[in-house]
Amino acid sequence: MTCTEPAYAKLNLTLDILGKRPDGYHDMRMVMQSVTLADEVSVELLPEPGLDITADLPFLPRGEGNIAGKAAAAFFRETGLPQRGLSVHIRKHIPVCAGMAGGSSDGAAVLRVLRRALAPEMSREDLEKIGGQVGSDVPYCIRGGTVLAEGRGEVLTDLPPLPPCHIVVCKPQFSVSTPELFAQVRVQRLRFHPRTEELRAALEQGDLEAAALRLYNVFEEVLPRRCAPVFEIKSRLLDLGAMAASMTGSGPSVFGIFRDEEPARAAAEVLGEQFPQTFFCRPAEKNV
Ligand code: C5P
Repeated sequence: MTCTEPAYAKLNLTLDILGKRPDGYHDMRMVMQSVTLADEVSVELLPEPGLDITADLPFLPRGEGNIAGKAAAAFFRETGLPQRGLSVHIRKHIPVCAGMAGGSSDGAAVLRVLRRALAPEMSREDLEKIGGQVGSDVPYCIRGGTVLAEGRGEVLTDLPPLPPCHIVVCKPQFSVSTPELFAQVRVQRLRFHPRTEELRAALEQGDLEAAALRLYNVFEEVLPRRCAPVFEIKSRLLDLGAMAASMTGSGPSVFGIFRDEEPARAAAEVLGEQFPQTFFCRPAEKNV
């Protein structure tokens, strides 16, 4: 039997870096939001052991080189359940290397399917712990919705949902290496930090405008010069009527939040002429 699970993209409403940790990672404080732009992850359990991961983008890694494969291996290792064969096919819609946790979300989708099929008694928290071994964004991607993520990204607190709105996401045609961008950050030298508590209060009041005004990502301060299109897209989104715009994750994708659908669709069309990877989407709800 094949089970197809949506793997929603993640946007950072805020991204703050609090300090470097002895384990080489950074302590973070981020408000994450999943959106309706999603990959489709089809999982088939087979009687004989073996892992087959394919995607409609042929350059994606197969087997355990893919986060979906790492997730499957971690699931059987941590649960001690007898190893089953797995055939996973991923239809990609989320741009790759975009700051939208596309790979982590595919891995999280595999973990959700495996829990449902093989360990329905397992708590969501235990599944998220397994996810944490696969990647820093995977625990959040298991849960989805609007969440405060702290620690390495795995300490999760549910927040009230972002009020209904329309979102345009645009990925310029270059990539940014996450570890290299982290290496550029000197926490003491960051000039601004997001006002995470004020965003939280805006979400609690269901105030979209106040929430939009709190978007902020500290990585924008340390982007190399070649990433100038990030700022160009931000100002284009604002000119086209977005209430606010920000880069997501380690970039280079930029998103704008719109109150109304029509200007958002028009903005997506205009930006899409210059940046083919431009998407219209909405906030998505929690997965589990
Ligand atoms: O956990 P994940 O494999 O997704 O992290 C990729 C890289 O991003 C890490 O190797 C590390 O360089 C950086 N990272 C970090 N602090 C975090 C999360 C990721 O420095 N909280």
